[in-house]
Amino acid sequence: MKVLLIGSGGREHALAVALNADPVLEELHVAPGNSGIAAIALCHAIDTDDNAAVIALAESLGIELVVIGPEKPLVQGLADDLRKAGFPVFGPSQVAAQIEGSKDFAKKVMSDAGVPTAHSFTCTSREEIEHALDAFGAPYVVKHDGLAAGKGVVVTSDRDEALAHALLSPRVVIEEFLDGPEVSLFGISDGKNILAMQPAQDFKRAFDGDLGPNTGGMGAYSPLPWAPDEIMEETLEQVLKPTIAEMAARGTPFVGLLYAGLALTNNGIRVIEFNARFGDPETQVLLPRLKTPLASLLLKAATRDLKDHPPLEWSADSAVTVVLASEGYPTSPVVGEPIMGINPVDGTYVFHAGTTLDNGILKSAGGRVLAVTGLGSDLTDARDKAYRVISGITLHGSHYRSDIALNASIAEKGN
Ligand code: AMP
Ligand code: GLY
Repeated sequence: MKVLLIGSGGREHALAVALNADPVLEELHVAPGNSGIAAIALCHAIDTDDNAAVIALAESLGIELVVIGPEKPLVQGLADDLRKAGFPVFGPSQVAAQIEGSKDFAKKVMSDAGVPTAHSFTCTSREEIEHALDAFGAPYVVKHDGLAAGKGVVVTSDRDEALAHALLSPRVVIEEFLDGPEVSLFGISDGKNILAMQPAQDFKRAFDGDLGPNTGGMGAYSPLPWAPDEIMEETLEQVLKPTIAEMAARGTPFVGLLYAGLALTNNGIRVIEFNARFGDPETQVLLPRLKTPLASLLLKAATRDLKDHPPLEWSADSAVTVVLASEGYPTSPVVGEPIMGINPVDGTYVFHAGTTLDNGILKSAGGRVLAVTGLGSDLTDARDKAYRVISGITLHGSHYRSDIALNASIAEKGN
C-alpha cells in the first residue's frame, strides 16, 4: 500500500514509524514531514494548507490512503477535497472536524447524544458572560469558541481574569469546573463503528509539579495503572459510540480519530473536550505499544469497514514519553540551536517534532523539539529508559519535565 501522511510534528513521526511497521506498506510519503521523518519516509515540501497541491501530490504518487495528522487541514476541508478526488482518507470532513473546531458545536453534539460533560452556557454578550460566571461560581472555566492553538481556555478563580478572557472572543463557552484526574482516550472510527484505544495521561503544564503555563503537552504515559479497569468500556459506551452515532444521524459521519479528553470525577466520566485527530504527545506514547498493524487499520476506517474488526491489540509494556522543549517554550521559543547526543537505546524511540537539518547539522526549529519514549516492564522501567536517553541530549537552553509519570510509577511500585 502507498500511504501519504500529512503533518510535521512528533505525532506524525510516531505515526510514520507505526505505519512503516505494517507489512502491507510499500511506500510511505509525508508532506511536509521533518528531518526525523525524512530518515524513514519520503518527504515532500509542499504547502499542506493548499488542498489542490495535496491532491496533485497524491495523484502523482498513486496514493491509496491519506492520513491527516493535524487539525488545521481538517478544519480547512482537506479530507472533503481528497475524498471528492477519489482517495480513501483517515480524517474527518470539515463539518465533522467542528467537534474540535467549535466548542459550542461539540457541546451541542454531546447534549443531543446524551454524552456526559460539564454544564455550560454559550455567551455572545457581556451580560450573558457575567450571568454564566456567577451561575457557576469559582473556579471559572472560560473557552473561546474557535480553534485557538491551546490558548483559548482559561481556568481561574479570579473573576476579573475570567471576564477579561471571555471578552476577548465574540463567542465563548463558560462551563462548570470538573474536578478529577484527566485522561486522554482515543477512538478509531469508520463513521459508524468505533474502536477504543488504551487510555493515556498527558502533562500540559510547562514545569515540574504542574507549574507554569499551559503547553501543547510536555509528556505522557500509558497504560494508567491507577485508572478503573472499566474505563475503556465505559468511555466506549458512554462517549465514543453515542458521539459517532449522533454525527452519523446528522448526516456528517465522523471518519478518523475521535480524541476524548476526559475528567474522571466522583460522579463518573465527563468529557472536557473533543479533538478530531491524534493527540501529541499521546500518540508517541500509545503507538509504540499498539500491536494491531496501523496502515491496515486506518485503511479499514477510511473505507468504512471496521464492522467486524476485533478489539485493538496492545503489548503488555508500559510507555513513558518526555518532551524536550526549546528555551523560552511555550511563551517565546528560541530556535536554530544545534542538537547533539541523540543516542536511543533498546526499547526507546526519539521522535522529532521541531527539528531541521542545516548544512548537515541538526538544529531546533520549534517549541517542542523532540519526544523521547521509553518502553519497559512497568512505568519505573519505562521512565528510566526515557530519562536515560533524554538526559544525554544537548540543546542549549532546552528544558524537559523530570516528573512525567513519577507519581503513577511510585503508586504502581507500592501496589
Ligand atoms: P482544552 O483546550 O479544552 O483542552 O482545555 C485545556 C485545559 O483546561 C484542560 O486540559 C483542562 O486541564 C482544563 N479544563 C478545561 N475544561 C475544564 C473544566 N470544565 N473543568 C476543569 N478544567 C478544565
Ligand atoms: N496533548 C494534547 C493535544 O494533543 O491536544
